[in-house]
Amino acid sequence: MPDELNVYWWDFALDTSDARLTDRDGTPIVNPPDADERLGLDYSAYLGLDLLLNAQVPSSRVPDERVFIIIHQLFELVFKQMTFDLAVVARTFQALGAMGEATFRETTREGLPDERGPSAFWRPGMTAAARLRHSARVVLPAVMSLVGRGADDDVLFSTLEYQRFRDFLVPASGFQTAQLRLIQRALGKGPLFGVPVFPGDAYGANYTGSPCGHVSLGDPLVLRSGHARAFPDADHPAHEVADLDNLAHAVLARLAPEADDLSAPPSVRRILGDDLDRTTARVRSTLGDAPNADATAATFRRDLAAAAKAENQRRDGFAQARRGAHAVQTRFARTCLAFVLDRIAATDAAMHAPDPESFLTVHRKAVRRHVAGEGGTGGGGMPYLVTSQRFLLPLFPALVAYADLGVGGTAETADRW
Ligand code: HEM
Repeated sequence: MPDELNVYWWDFALDTSDARLTDRDGTPIVNPPDADERLGLDYSAYLGLDLLLNAQVPSSRVPDERVFIIIHQLFELVFKQMTFDLAVVARTFQALGAMGEATFRETTREGLPDERGPSAFWRPGMTAAARLRHSARVVLPAVMSLVGRGADDDVLFSTLEYQRFRDFLVPASGFQTAQLRLIQRALGKGPLFGVPVFPGDAYGANYTGSPCGHVSLGDPLVLRSGHARAFPDADHPAHEVADLDNLAHAVLARLAPEADDLSAPPSVRRILGDDLDRTTARVRSTLGDAPNADATAATFRRDLAAAAKAENQRRDGFAQARRGAHAVQTRFARTCLAFVLDRIAATDAAMHAPDPESFLTVHRKAVRRHVAGEGGTGGGGMPYLVTSQRFLLPLFPALVAYADLGVGGTAETADRW
């Protein structure tokens, strides 16, 4: 188990019985009834602060390195909450899929709640989905603002000070964040992680000792100790997170008969040859006059085409899910189900879209301010970030059969509920 210390984190149930975690003898894990043991629990012990607050190890004496470390750790904590919220949503879809027909009908049609809040079944999934959108839209960009808020804003994080310690961090880089990769797998981007997309010269030199063209973001040598977090074993509870997109489409497929008397929706978007050409042209232009640039770009196209083919085959299986999505957006737009689906789609947009406020855009602006023309500490630098956000990630949207229909105004079922 990669995160043994966190084994209880994933031990949760959506039913409302037996809320308290206990060991095999039935003794509560936290705050046992025994008076002596209760004395062991205080604020610091409950929150694991001895571990948490001893986990900052700078490489330099430059004061600004402290905020650089803390901001990345804050991100990883928010990512952790997001993976957990995605697991709650994934299990909600799984539970829906396992329902008998009558309960499934009733539960998928459950309308948005009144002021008393959602039913016991929908409550965990709805709060998790709402929190996901909030984390992506508000929390991540707010945390990023600790390294500055706008063009030329060096007031909160000094570029000159950053330059004094950044080289000590090579070859470590944010492109190695395993938790974000798991979140992105939940949001339909899994096929990208087997495709060599990251310009790997620095990677080659630093990790493998030999030069190479591109490396995949899911490569165990890139993710290193984080690999098991991005690709949990089948028996790890976080495994369901990666399957969220398929679980949601399975629920939608079951709703297809509801669209029988509606006009057919447009078919699910496929990844086209034009998409591959555009992306390859972009990669070729970033390679400039590097040796073997043409061959590297051709290899990139071949690898991306293979991933696109597999993904298109998956999408070919979504004809029923598309009809179900059409029914949800046309007939059940103000249901708990639509609320959850809309917030997953909105989370994807808030993290990845090439909009001015998305997490990746805010990050890219911070990179432009602080590293200017230089490569990143991992090697891909600004050219990679633009290629990834503008050309690669948009090919793999979350909820592909649902998110682009827009019949009922996807992404905003209701302001509150
Ligand atoms: C001054 C602050 C930062 C700078 C200068 C910076 C710089 C970079 C650069 C240059 C890259 C491209 C890869 C490379 O060449 O190494 C990158 C990638 C990345 N960084 Fe940062 N970064 C900063 C803060 C952050 C923070 C706070 C996070 C939060 C986790 C983060 C997450 C990422 C991620 C996820 C990627 C990969 C993006 C992708 O694959 O699409 N970065 N960063």
